[in-house]
Amino acid sequence: MTRFAPSGPLRGELRPPPDKSVSHRAALIGAMSDGEVAVEGYLDAADTRSTRRAVQQLGADIVVEEAPQRGALNLRIAGIGLRGPGGQSDDGAGDIDVGNAGTLLRLLPGWLAGQGMGKWTLDGDESIRRRPVDRIAEPLTRMGAAISCRDGRLTPVRVEGAHLTGISYRMPVASAQVKSCLLLAGLLADGSTEVTEPATTRDHTERMLAASGAKVETEELRTVPTRGGGPARRITIGSAEALNAGRIVVPADFSSAAFPLVAATIVEGSEVRLAGVGLNPTRVGLLGILNRMGAPFEVEEAREATEPTGAILARHGSLQATRVHAEEVALAIDELPLVALLGCFAEGTTVVSGAEELRHKESDRIATVVEGLRGIGADIEAADDGFVVRGTGELAGGRLDAHGDHRLAMLGAIAGLASREGVEVTGMEAAGVSYPGFEEDLRALTASSERSPTS
Ligand code: S3P
Repeated sequence: MTRFAPSGPLRGELRPPPDKSVSHRAALIGAMSDGEVAVEGYLDAADTRSTRRAVQQLGADIVVEEAPQRGALNLRIAGIGLRGPGGQSDDGAGDIDVGNAGTLLRLLPGWLAGQGMGKWTLDGDESIRRRPVDRIAEPLTRMGAAISCRDGRLTPVRVEGAHLTGISYRMPVASAQVKSCLLLAGLLADGSTEVTEPATTRDHTERMLAASGAKVETEELRTVPTRGGGPARRITIGSAEALNAGRIVVPADFSSAAFPLVAATIVEGSEVRLAGVGLNPTRVGLLGILNRMGAPFEVEEAREATEPTGAILARHGSLQATRVHAEEVALAIDELPLVALLGCFAEGTTVVSGAEELRHKESDRIATVVEGLRGIGADIEAADDGFVVRGTGELAGGRLDAHGDHRLAMLGAIAGLASREGVEVTGMEAAGVSYPGFEEDLRALTASSERSPTS
């Protein structure tokens, strides 16, 4: 149990750890490349260690070097090429442990499904065993893949190399993991593969593949972001002979930056500068939500590279309640628990809807966020597809069980800083899944205030 006491103002500057989504893709697309790929600032956390190990197991040699930022490594990956895994041995058999990493679980089968030969089984921890994989198995099967999962929808998932043909697929849920899986499979399929998404999702895979020489095209299918419209985007990929990612620079993770950003917003007197943060428009939905709530933050954009980056200057300010609808959900999916916390400190009732996907994350985040925040004094209710929070301007504090979910553990910690009596978080170690050094970062930001956040 770790206790987070109410803190004085958060002050200072911080570079959050590297982006988890971009790191997973860098290891995979690096391994899929021909020749050497340099990854600058790969996230050194539990989830991305699983991906590093997986591609090494498939035959990619990786030289690991220290990087200047905390929680980051520089990698030199000797790519094995698009068709590398199937050429390893006669059967290429392999049991791959994905740990807690949902992104690895959903993306890797896309690459493996199109191999000339080989058989692989992907399995992971207890939480992974509850997460659906039929969402990738179904479209991959349509492409010709030999893939099966437990009870038709759960891990372990077995993949056998097969001949793939491009399809045109309309995703029933807005998922970047499903889209990315199909784009990787599309590289190995005959003809072109089209994926249509009901709402815009993070596009790191498209950006990295295009920078690696793949033929990827994105078509915006509408301009007005309202409900009831048609699908948002169509992404088309052609088959490829080879990729070369060359050099990949990983920005700091916006989803990790979101914790100190929200902490500074709700703790009086705070001012925190978050540097080098990825500002990909498909990731920063939380900034739009904070804007509507009246939060007084500022953004300094740097020159655009493959991934746009910049600094966020976060400040405390009074907040108004807001509504988050389905259209915005995918752009802020991992930050919606923080929106619930913001709602506690806002004037009025904050409503998040169209977010049933939250039930399929590291925990059922509708249930665990509502239980967690209610246990520390929030006036919050669950809906089938989101939650309703009545702002009271304060949180009493108490105990919060992280349910093994990294984002819930960090939510509890931030809530503690802004609470009256502090929050005791059970399962704080889960933060290491995505944010190495989270507690040290909080300590550094609160060091100038009289009270230290952890004891
Ligand atoms: C991710 C996509 C999202 C997100 C997850 C990472 C990715 O999941 O919640 O943390 O890296 O593609 P879905 O694709 O299931 O929405």
